[in-house]
Amino acid sequence: MHLEPVMMKIEEVILESNLARSFIFKTCSERSESKSLEYQPGQFIMLWIPRLDEKPFSISYHGKDFFGVTVALKGRFTQRLHEMKVGEWVGIRGPFGTAFNLNVGKACVVGGGVGMASLAVLIERLEDSVVVQGARTASELLYRNRFKDMLLCTEDGSAGTKGVPTDLLEDLYRHYRFDAIYTCGPEAMMVKVSEFAREYNICMQASLERYIKCAVGVCGQCCCNGLRLCVEGPVLDGGTLEKLEDFGRYARRGNGRRVPIGTYLGKKT
Ligand SMILES: Cc1cc2nc3c(=O)[nH]c(=O)nc-3n(C[C@H](O)[C@H](O)[C@H](O)COP(=O)(O)OP(=O)(O)OC[C@H]3O[C@@H](n4cnc5c(N)ncnc54)[C@H](O)[C@@H]3O)c2cc1C
Ligand code: FES
Repeated sequence: MHLEPVMMKIEEVILESNLARSFIFKTCSERSESKSLEYQPGQFIMLWIPRLDEKPFSISYHGKDFFGVTVALKGRFTQRLHEMKVGEWVGIRGPFGTAFNLNVGKACVVGGGVGMASLAVLIERLEDSVVVQGARTASELLYRNRFKDMLLCTEDGSAGTKGVPTDLLEDLYRHYRFDAIYTCGPEAMMVKVSEFAREYNICMQASLERYIKCAVGVCGQCCCNGLRLCVEGPVLDGGTLEKLEDFGRYARRGNGRRVPIGTYLGKKT
């Protein structure tokens, strides 16, 4: 783990959708002090653009000598990152946080929007899984060529089934009888997944998003009912989520104020 930023060169930029790009880094390149990145699916890194800011991103690609992040365009930081080209340098700290537990039988993976980034390496490592991805529209779907058998849902019906991934859960369960569900995406979707898992007594794990500053459990910014999401999360199990009063309800903005989750996700902080 790197507690201080290590400067890394962008080796490749992949256009994933009309909103998201992936940035690939080599872990053994010149000037990089990093030999390999010890990482478990679900963990995240802090990406620093000097003189701008540092922000958290899930690792969405990982191999012996490379890793990558997939970044959706949101505000000032992600705009600047999207403008960066192969050969430019950024600082990387991490990886941080908890990981998904892979010791399950049959799994169902439910991803929404850029939440798919946190699930991508997990999907590659699961032996037996069915994957369903939801997005607002076809042009926002991720990794369509990377995971060929993935089931798709779009809210406007432009690809796959019209609707949201949770509409399919009941049918999928009847067909696949999975033992576990993994999810990451809009919090309203993850709440529905956790309710489904509780009803059918299936174990589930979700990756939550809260505003992160230090990433090492010191500043308290990411606290969610006493849990530091950067250390005790972002991946939490169903039992823990059930006890989190703020899950699906509240989050803290960058200024520390606790606001309804819709306000947090929709507004600049
Ligand atoms: C553990 C974790 C993993 C993440 N993984 C990814 C990923 O793989 N791909 C991706 O596109 N995004 C990911 N995010 C969200 C990403 O960090 C924000 O989209 C990004 O910081 C937005 O910055 P901005 O300046 O472009 O937008 P802003 O206009 O500053 O913010 C837009 C929204 O992004 C969120 N945000 C802003 N700053 C932070 C911060 N420091 N920490 C957490 N959320 C923030 C807030 O919801 C805010 O309303 C992740 C967040 C967390 C907590
Ligand atoms: S971001 Fe500082 S404690 Fe989690």
